[in-house]
Amino acid sequence: MVYIIDFGSQTAHLISRRIRELGASTKVINPDEALTEIKQLKPDGIIFSGGPASVYAKNAPTIDPRVFTLNIPILGICYGLQLISKILGGEVISGKKEYGPTTLSILPKTSLLSKNLPPRFKVWMSHGDEVTKLPAGFEVLGRSETLKFAFVQNLAKRLYGVQFHPEVEHTENGMQVLKNFLSICHPDPSVDEEGSKLDSSVNYQNAIKTQVQNIKDIVKEDFVIGAVSGGVDSTVAATLVVKAIGKKFIPIYIDNGLMRAGTTKWVEKIFKQIGSKPIILKVEEEMLRRLKGVTDSEKKRQIIGKFYIELFEAKMREAQNAGKNVTYLLQGTIYSDVIESQGTKHSSKIKSHHNVGGLPKKMKLKLLEPLRNFYKDEVRAIGLQLNLPKEFIFKQPFPGPGFAVRIRGEVTKDRLEKEKLADKIVLDELEKNNLLKDVFISFPVMTGSYSTAVLGDERFFGEVVALRIVQSKDVMTANFAEIPYPVLQKISSRIVNEVPGISRVVYDISTKPPATMEWE
Ligand code: XMP
Repeated sequence: MVYIIDFGSQTAHLISRRIRELGASTKVINPDEALTEIKQLKPDGIIFSGGPASVYAKNAPTIDPRVFTLNIPILGICYGLQLISKILGGEVISGKKEYGPTTLSILPKTSLLSKNLPPRFKVWMSHGDEVTKLPAGFEVLGRSETLKFAFVQNLAKRLYGVQFHPEVEHTENGMQVLKNFLSICHPDPSVDEEGSKLDSSVNYQNAIKTQVQNIKDIVKEDFVIGAVSGGVDSTVAATLVVKAIGKKFIPIYIDNGLMRAGTTKWVEKIFKQIGSKPIILKVEEEMLRRLKGVTDSEKKRQIIGKFYIELFEAKMREAQNAGKNVTYLLQGTIYSDVIESQGTKHSSKIKSHHNVGGLPKKMKLKLLEPLRNFYKDEVRAIGLQLNLPKEFIFKQPFPGPGFAVRIRGEVTKDRLEKEKLADKIVLDELEKNNLLKDVFISFPVMTGSYSTAVLGDERFFGEVVALRIVQSKDVMTANFAEIPYPVLQKISSRIVNEVPGISRVVYDISTKPPATMEWE
């Protein structure tokens, strides 16, 4: 059993998932309650997560130093390492900020924590502070391009620390680092050999059974309205509900004009397959009217969220007048939506994913979110085991607020049409070049910036489109896709030639972190 102390990290839950994938059980707890629980239940190991605060900030989360006297191995990740250093007499400063990939060099020393690691590999960082002096008794196991103390240990006290994030998909050998820590906590050859390769089919079959039963227990005899978008998350969530309550599920698709072309047809087709018929509400004009003049991205999310709820509640009243008791609204919320919308005690709000934070505070419907604790790749695995078609399961995700968050500034009918046209060009070219399968998400952004162009010998001042194409599995980290230059060039010239008013196209080469996938 490993306890993960959550100092407000975006990835505390992900650390827990990784440790479970390695065969140990986990519990994520708040630092304030940690010491009592640890003393009572005596876990084999403890991980201090990262967190958004600086260890010197007022109200920065901390932990009772007696945790260091219990002789339980502790691994500090990022903020966790900085906190260990500060509490035990090291030095932390607001130092070189580092977000995204860097290279870790392992020093030639024998340590269980660096067992089976290559001498150099890529790791992902996300920190503003850095440890500049280690507490007494610590030694360095590895350094990054900029940090002396990126990978450290105090063998006698069984304390370990990494400034990088071993839990994220893009850190190479991250699972090996965590596996090494587990073998320090609990020397068990069955864990040490293969990592435990969970039999994922059995694993998700159980998850499906549990979620279907949970839905039945929660909903009882009532009806459920479903917010469906034609995307993977809401469709997988809907399939679970249909399995649980069948015809008492009322899916609703809101065609607000902000979705990709052809989505309505997709929704009808996929719901036919899962044995349910969605109500389609066409509200494009009203949606644009409500977004008129709005430029702030969070406001856009709130407006779209509020409009959705009004529509769902109207349908709820209609159903109730027809004698159906509707109490729940199904949403395909997944864990990355929750954590980015500030899902835990010490975490920061990154954005209000409209299916989590963008909803009005007062709602008549209660939320039903069976996928709230799952990551994107897990939702896809569940979808496959529910027999949803493969080409659908691996389709690109699309944000709930749709193109509204891909148009910086005001969403007008004219800019929306341009965005849709450019989006189609990007998809077309990636498909033609057989690149769609390697891409997690791709889209143009109407940036709201303007630049000069020369069109047929005449000066022209038009909008700049940014192209965002990224690779990711679990959404928590992402890298820009290395699309061949000729394909990028083709996309660029097609957008400038075919979409009116565009002066140039730029390619976004930011990683997540620090940049999120969407621009808003
Ligand atoms: P970010 O931009 O947060 O994107 O790195 C991660 C994933 O979430 C999607 N996304 C949203 N989905 N409502 C949603 O339902 C939102 O407000 C929202 N914002 C981003 C994004 O498309 C990507 O798949």
